[in-house]
Amino acid sequence: MKRHERNVYRVTFAVMVTAVVAVVSCSSGKEDQPVSVSNGNKDDLRAVSATALEVAEGKRIAQASCARCHGMDGVSKSKGIPHIAGQRPGYLHLELRAYQTGARGDKAMDGAVKFLSDDALVQVAAYYASLEPAPAVASGVKPAPAKTPDPLQAGKDAAAGCAGCHGEGGISKIPGMPSLVGLDPKYLVAAMKAYKTDQRKHDIMKSLLMSKSDADLESIALFYALLKPDRAQTPPVNGKVKSGEAAAAACAGCHGNQGVSGNPVTPSLAGQEAQYLVTATKAYKDGSRKDETMAGPAAALDAATINDLAAFYADQTPKPPNVRKPLTTAEWAQKCDRCHGINGNSTDPLTPALAGQRADYLEKVLHDYKTHTRKSPPMAAMSDVLGDVDIADLAAHYARQTPRSVVFAIPQDK
Ligand code: HEC
Ligand code: HEC
Ligand code: HEC
Ligand code: HEC
Repeated sequence: MKRHERNVYRVTFAVMVTAVVAVVSCSSGKEDQPVSVSNGNKDDLRAVSATALEVAEGKRIAQASCARCHGMDGVSKSKGIPHIAGQRPGYLHLELRAYQTGARGDKAMDGAVKFLSDDALVQVAAYYASLEPAPAVASGVKPAPAKTPDPLQAGKDAAAGCAGCHGEGGISKIPGMPSLVGLDPKYLVAAMKAYKTDQRKHDIMKSLLMSKSDADLESIALFYALLKPDRAQTPPVNGKVKSGEAAAAACAGCHGNQGVSGNPVTPSLAGQEAQYLVTATKAYKDGSRKDETMAGPAAALDAATINDLAAFYADQTPKPPNVRKPLTTAEWAQKCDRCHGINGNSTDPLTPALAGQRADYLEKVLHDYKTHTRKSPPMAAMSDVLGDVDIADLAAHYARQTPRSVVFAIPQDK
């Protein structure tokens, strides 16, 4: 069955709840997990309703085909191999099928399940699901890894020395100094890197940025992009706004109609400091600021038109670039828990538990979703917007949660 069809069934489950036969086991004696189980697609839930005999058969298969990697206890001792003990049975079965059809390509796993019948997959899934989950300490994660600093705060700190020239809040008060607000982080990062590599020559900017890491540059750019933009607070240049507006028709295709660019790598010019606009345009014209795209448009401009353009753009209203404040790990986890259960202890037999899973594995599969090497519509939508840091933090977060086993029971139909 295709994955999107599965989601349709998932919705159906919710509507078709026929019974709640919740049984919970948790040998550690911690509070029990309430579990609602419904009657849904029989095929997907076969592993959920496996009999003791089937579980015993599953144990035999595990011994022969799985134990050398997953152990008989389903608790991994090696990097890259997930814990599967106590994982939700319907999910385990579906993943084994995905390996078998090659839908979730993995050499080690594809080989292990290649010659097993679907009955065998059901049985071995039921066996591992019936085991106690990995003890929290076995997940190989240090108790409380250093929390990744809030990128916004990091950006603010790293930009502390910039305000003297670029203005408090990134709004310039000094003629010739560019404002840093209203610019897309992609452009800002590229501009800062260009100073570091001398592709854009400016000794002061270079010396100020040399000690900054790529992560610093990203956070600085995000910090400025999220500030409220305003026009630079400097005197106008000697140019005519009306004539500038007419001349700007040649620039609008790239810089936007009112100087608000729709392309992250093309800077917005609206509200930019007027003297800086003049200097920058002249620098493209005389070749001291080298850029293939700008060389052409700047070449044809005379000094008076350059002033008019600067007067026009400086007079426009800057807009914030299209970026959102990043979510904290706790905010992300709230979204994840909607499907994966409280603290990653899923109560849906088809949705994997994340609690206590190995961090290295969680990190790997989240990257697999992000790059679409592992396909799942709900997860692709989630992971597309996760950055590498978010992924590492979420992996560490879930690996630290205490896993709880769940025993599902579904009503037998007559
Ligand atoms: C040669 C080593 C090896 C063998 C043998 C093996 N596995 Fe795996 N298994 C892995 C690795 C590595 C992964 C992670 C693959 C990935 O990232 O997709 C994995 C992943 C899985 C997953 C996915 C877990 C999840 O949370 O999504 C399941 C289920 C699983 N194995 C069950 C089994 C079963 C059942 C058997 C026996 C029939 C078996 N494996 C045999 C190495 C092995
Ligand atoms: C001593 C004054 C000074 C300080 C301090 C300073 N800058 Fe600059 N910055 C400039 C000048 C001058 C320019 C224009 C250089 C040019 O013409 O390329 C500039 C240009 C820039 C640009 C390019 C803007 C654009 O629109 O292309 C960025 C980005 C930037 N600075 C970031 C920073 C950051 C981040 C800091 C703090 C770490 C900082 N600057 C500190 C003087 C300064
Ligand atoms: C084909 C697309 C294109 C056109 C047309 C274009 N630009 Fe640009 N412009 C760019 C790109 C891309 C950059 C960033 C180049 C860089 O990194 O130095 C840029 C940068 C600039 C900058 C520097 C901004 C800053 O913050 O440092 C100014 C000023 C500018 N353009 C003015 C103009 C004017 C005035 C016109 C019309 C006469 C114009 N551009 C036409 C693509 C274009
Ligand atoms: C809309 C429901 C939904 C949301 C929200 C969701 N997931 Fe999932 N997740 C799933 C489903 C369904 C699967 C199984 C997909 C598959 O078969 O590959 C899954 C699989 C996973 C896996 C693979 C587990 C394993 O054992 O291989 C990880 C890791 C994961 N999700 C993490 C997350 C994180 C982190 C978030 C929040 C950023 C999240 N999920 C949000 C539904 C969801």
